[in-house]
Amino acid sequence: MRRPRQRSGRVLVAVGIAAAGVGFAVVIGLNLLIAVVLVAAVLIPAGIAQTVRERDTGKQRSTSAFLFYNLAAAVVVAVGIQLVPAGRSHTNPAVTAEPQWADPQARELMVRACFGCHSNEVDWPWYSNVAPLSWAISDHVSEGREAVNYSEFDRPQDEADETIEVLLDGSMPPAYYTRFGLHPDADLSAAEVDALVAWLRQTPGLADEDHESDDEGSDEREDSDEREEHDDDD
Ligand code: HEC
Repeated sequence: MRRPRQRSGRVLVAVGIAAAGVGFAVVIGLNLLIAVVLVAAVLIPAGIAQTVRERDTGKQRSTSAFLFYNLAAAVVVAVGIQLVPAGRSHTNPAVTAEPQWADPQARELMVRACFGCHSNEVDWPWYSNVAPLSWAISDHVSEGREAVNYSEFDRPQDEADETIEVLLDGSMPPAYYTRFGLHPDADLSAAEVDALVAWLRQTPGLADEDHESDDEGSDEREDSDEREEHDDDD
């Protein structure tokens, strides 16, 4: 007979691991689907190991045995994912043109808060080489550059005219970027945002009025799900 106490212990371990995995993903801005796959890659082999051991020994294994299998699986997964060849191309293509900043300080503030993802001057930290951080970070940069790249202002930047809007509504930089004191420089004060917005209003291409692109609305927002995640955690 299974002892119910042990089963609930194992459920607790499984739920704890799933919650830790999903929580970690939200904190670093990792795609939740990837987080679910990683959690499954830990829980399923651990569950199988537990079941096989129980069958072989004919004895019920303890919760701590299950915890041990999970930790072992987590180590294997953590090492294994380093072999996945994704998220390692840390590019910084040539800077071709920037907006004509109304003031050098506007540029400075933009560099501090935005260039980490929206420029060709991205500082790739050491941990951007460690999966799954590497996957999350390279995604942020490639999606950020795709939305607007302030280093390639000689090309059409369809969403550049939303620069002021995202600053005012606080959706940029994304919450995960400055959470837990990460990137303190990017966490602009209200006064800095106000000053920056005033300068940006005088910077061609960044204010709505100056928007010249004629294909507005043509590019569908594919990442609206992800945006909601960012938005609801401040
Ligand atoms: C950690 C990376 C990161 C930083 C830092 C960052 N962004 Fe973004 N930004 C993104 C990503 C990813 C997207 C596209 C998906 C999305 O909207 O979340 C985006 C989208 C945008 C867009 C397109 C409109 C929109 O809301 O999707 C604008 C405009 C923008 N960012 C401006 C800024 C400005 C201005 C700053 C600095 C105050 C900034 N971003 C800082 C990652 C970043």
